[in-house]
Amino acid sequence: MCGIVGAVAQRDVKRILLEGLRRLEYRGYDSAGLAVLAAGGPIQRHRAVGKVEALENQIAEVPLSGHTGIAHTRWATHGVPSECNAHPHISRDRIALVHNGIIENYQALKQQLQVDGYSFSSDTDSEVVVNLVHQALDDGGDLLAAVRKVLGQIRGAYALAVMDRHAPGRLIGARRGSPLVVGLGFDEYFFASDVFALLPVTQRFVFLEEGDVVDLRAEGFTILNAAGEVTERPIQVSGIDPESADRGAYRHYMLKEIHEQPAVIANTLSGRLADGRLSADFFGGEGNAILERIKRVQIVACGTSYHAGMVARYWIEELCGLPCNVEVASEYRYRVRPVADETTLFVVISQSGETADTLAALRDARERDYGASLAICNVPESSLVRESDLVLMTRAGQEIGVASTKAFTTQLVALMLLVLALGRHRGLPEAEERRLAAALQQLPQAVEACLALEGDIQAMAEHFADKHHALFLGRGAQYPVAMEGALKLKEISYIHAEAYPAGELKHGPLALVDADMPVVAVAPNNELLEKLLSNLQEVNARGGELFVFADQTVEVGEVQHHLPVVSVDDELAPLIYTVPLQLLAYHVAVLKGTDVDKPRNLAKSVTVE
Ligand code: G6P
Repeated sequence: MCGIVGAVAQRDVKRILLEGLRRLEYRGYDSAGLAVLAAGGPIQRHRAVGKVEALENQIAEVPLSGHTGIAHTRWATHGVPSECNAHPHISRDRIALVHNGIIENYQALKQQLQVDGYSFSSDTDSEVVVNLVHQALDDGGDLLAAVRKVLGQIRGAYALAVMDRHAPGRLIGARRGSPLVVGLGFDEYFFASDVFALLPVTQRFVFLEEGDVVDLRAEGFTILNAAGEVTERPIQVSGIDPESADRGAYRHYMLKEIHEQPAVIANTLSGRLADGRLSADFFGGEGNAILERIKRVQIVACGTSYHAGMVARYWIEELCGLPCNVEVASEYRYRVRPVADETTLFVVISQSGETADTLAALRDARERDYGASLAICNVPESSLVRESDLVLMTRAGQEIGVASTKAFTTQLVALMLLVLALGRHRGLPEAEERRLAAALQQLPQAVEACLALEGDIQAMAEHFADKHHALFLGRGAQYPVAMEGALKLKEISYIHAEAYPAGELKHGPLALVDADMPVVAVAPNNELLEKLLSNLQEVNARGGELFVFADQTVEVGEVQHHLPVVSVDDELAPLIYTVPLQLLAYHVAVLKGTDVDKPRNLAKSVTVE
């Protein structure tokens, strides 16, 4: 939530800041702003409601340049999206600040600042921090000391960058609870919420730790750790392709990412299977020693990643015989006494690796008696990856569409690899391991076959665009797939959608079914098929409009809309059936004319709780 960029250079930094904001827009896009400073000049600030493009248009005609600058793209927490709530915030024409996070004790601090004569022009929590820095500077000392003093006064989560009109060529940054990286150029240094923002200017980064404060200048930078000691952090070179954000010929990133799935699934598998089985060094010796002790699995995640965990629960219990619990992170983290013991593997799943609730759950778990933690994640440099005992990267490549697609299917692939690794210690027969490994290798082709349905799905979407509600049904491991399908539809088309295990239909939701309530069902050919088909007839009998994605070998009977789906091994069917539901949501959203890649009110990386 919210993206920040900062730059100190010999050249004008305006373009660097704007490009950084464009690349961070996935973190929030309700308003944006920047402030630049040239030696001896005033702070030049511009802010605009809406996307970064609105800010660019606003400053296109304005003469604006400076060698020091900060910028922000916002996802509102305190105060509506408006120009005065947009960052940077400025205190008394001297201090400018951008902030990502939430200051929990801002109200008490604000009252005191008002008593001290500070005025406020926004409803944000962040404006408290900029005024506090100003006040601390007025009390004496330099910018670094002032910021450190303020960090001792505020409570909550933050990544922030501060600029002082009286100190051109210098920025102070700090992180606790929200991500911040330092980018290293030649005689120019940068801050950003992620590396991607800075790839056009550098590939060299330092990842800050919790509690770090950085004094950044054009000649170099100094890091103080949480204890206030000068400290060194390793320099890492990013392997991310700076061009990976290219949308190519696709109309939206989401569509591009849906179509990338065969390739990225192959990437997730690459080097991890050998001789038709899981490769022997998959988790390495230490990892295997950990897995050997495991008797229970606890999965924690949010949003789409939570749905991946729900699918995995079926696999872990059925194929490994291990009890598995799955919980959303925002609930898990506030449980007073979750059952934790040394034989439980604590698994966090996250595309970004920065989701505040998931990260907090991991940190809480590390204080408890779990056997080990494992992060299943798409971003190698993320906090989640750095703080887990074991790591399994999903290798989906950068995902830009806010509605997650390829991140989900690659999470499922990674989770199946975990199942094979756990299965080795839990008596999963070798023949079963080989069958599943072969099925995994067939996945890219099977996903291609689903993508070939796009034209039919587009036609199907025409019947959806005027609807206000929809039900999604699945059974067994397809129930979380139905949940994911419903989530996709509501996220990007704003149609209210609910998912139910098909057997629950008659316990309430059937009352909603009429000609205006489309019912979407996923029906692989498994032992639950007949039961599902009976549930569909119950819908039919009440005049509901059915949209069924069923295994190509299945005779579904009388339904209004039906598309045959390629047959795959049943365990991997959740992955396959997700694809048509992604395409359905996408084409409905296009017909409705919504902002597919940046749906209203949402953000891709949720770094506040
Ligand atoms: C946000 C995104 C979702 C994502 C969820 C969890 O809500 O819009 O697409 O599934 O966060 O994010 P994570 O990065 O932890 O997977």
